[in-house]
Amino acid sequence: MDYLPLFFDLKNRQALLVGGGDVALRKARLLVRAGACVRVVSREVHAELDELIERHGGQVIIGEYHSALLDDVALVIAATDDESLNERVHYDAVARSLPVNVVDNPPLCTFVFPAIVDRSPIVIGISSGGQSPVLARLLRARLETLIPSGYSRLGKLVGGFRDRVKARFSSVNARRKFWEEILQGEVAERVFAGRDEEAAGLLEQALDTADEGRGVGEVYLVGAGPGDPELLTFKALRLMQQADVVVYDRLVSPQVLDLCRRDADLIYVGKKRDDHSLPQQGINALLVEHARKGRRVVRLKGGDPFIFGRGGEEIEELKANGIPFQVVPGITAASACSTYAGIPLTHREYAQSVKFVTGQLKNRTSDLKFDELVHPNQTIVFYMGLHTLEQLCAGLMAHGKPGDTPVAIVSQGTSPEQRVLTGRLDDIVARQQHAQLPAPAIIIVGEVVALQSRLAWFGCTEGEQADG
Ligand SMILES: C[S@@+](CC[C@H](N)C(=O)[O-])C[C@H]1O[C@@H](n2cnc3c(N)ncnc32)[C@H](O)[C@@H]1O
Repeated sequence: MDYLPLFFDLKNRQALLVGGGDVALRKARLLVRAGACVRVVSREVHAELDELIERHGGQVIIGEYHSALLDDVALVIAATDDESLNERVHYDAVARSLPVNVVDNPPLCTFVFPAIVDRSPIVIGISSGGQSPVLARLLRARLETLIPSGYSRLGKLVGGFRDRVKARFSSVNARRKFWEEILQGEVAERVFAGRDEEAAGLLEQALDTADEGRGVGEVYLVGAGPGDPELLTFKALRLMQQADVVVYDRLVSPQVLDLCRRDADLIYVGKKRDDHSLPQQGINALLVEHARKGRRVVRLKGGDPFIFGRGGEEIEELKANGIPFQVVPGITAASACSTYAGIPLTHREYAQSVKFVTGQLKNRTSDLKFDELVHPNQTIVFYMGLHTLEQLCAGLMAHGKPGDTPVAIVSQGTSPEQRVLTGRLDDIVARQQHAQLPAPAIIIVGEVVALQSRLAWFGCTEGEQADG
């Protein structure tokens, strides 16, 4: 983050605006909207600017800038076309530790103006850190269309109830739950429909009948997908943004984690091969413990919680303890990685079925039912198989799978670091020894892999194409 977004309270405080043209006028409009007393200094002042400042009780000084004008001001803007004057204003302000913005000159700014979506009291500021103001403005235009103007009235309505709700609920969690229900339910809908009085009545009623001691919280077992945050479901995102606690493991990408509610407690429980930061029993107990405290717990798991995710064990424990839960499916690695690698898992000509198989072998010996995996016209996807690649390939070939069967390894699928290595059953081990693709990775075995050379569309592929 290049700049920390903050909101500045300028009500009844002095702001110095150096410059009197169109640009200064635009800045002055913003300053007066925020309730500032604006002091303008310039040799000439735009008539509209003069009128605006007078109407809002500010001061217009026709003349030269000098540093004494910085006395008692809280914020400074230089909006002139005289570069040396802009620089002087900058250095004078910095010497007094005053925040200063020199329009269109980021190196001379200690703060920047964001593009603003104003639904006061709700205000959204979008900044590109000076890199691309046009991009920030385009995003603003999108948000303008997505956020109905009713949000402004909704903000004002609930603002009027804030103290009463605070007095009604002693715990922060209960208060938050109450507000989330109000802001996503009938009250909000009535405001958006322009029926503000009905909305206020419903809010009164909800406050009267609210029951603080609704006891246990809830656990949401959420599939976070393979890494690319755009592959989350809407439901996953909504629950992640409501969570009080997020219990997550290693395969959840930082970009996905970043979308959780800002002030949720984030608890890492690891789960690397042979290194479980917290054993499964401990994770189960943790979920129960937090839910019993009335918290909404998101258990965030890579891919889909019910595919090699031990999700079943976690909800069994919740059920046994009477904790309510929901399960949200996620896009599993086989589906996501094959898609991003350009390998359709089934194909009318090459594969009519697909099997998801764990590549983890007990004591590294072959306890897999290889004879079931070698049928023609099916695709096999191995999860957790990178470290047993050699045994998997040898086992398949020993049970009759031809050595020239195409194979792909998809590593860190869907992320910008995704790599795809293709080869054949009888040479993929050597290729991987050379390429050293890192975990997490899936291994796809079957004729469909040969389509990859034509269908690849994302990231890069290594190694020669096995076939076709
Ligand atoms: C314990 S399993 C969890 C699977 C997860 N529940 C799912 O549905 O994708 C972990 C394995 O999933 C695979 N995996 C998960 N994310 C991956 C990714 N982004 N790229 C490649 N493989 C991935 C790897 O085989 C990894 O060893």
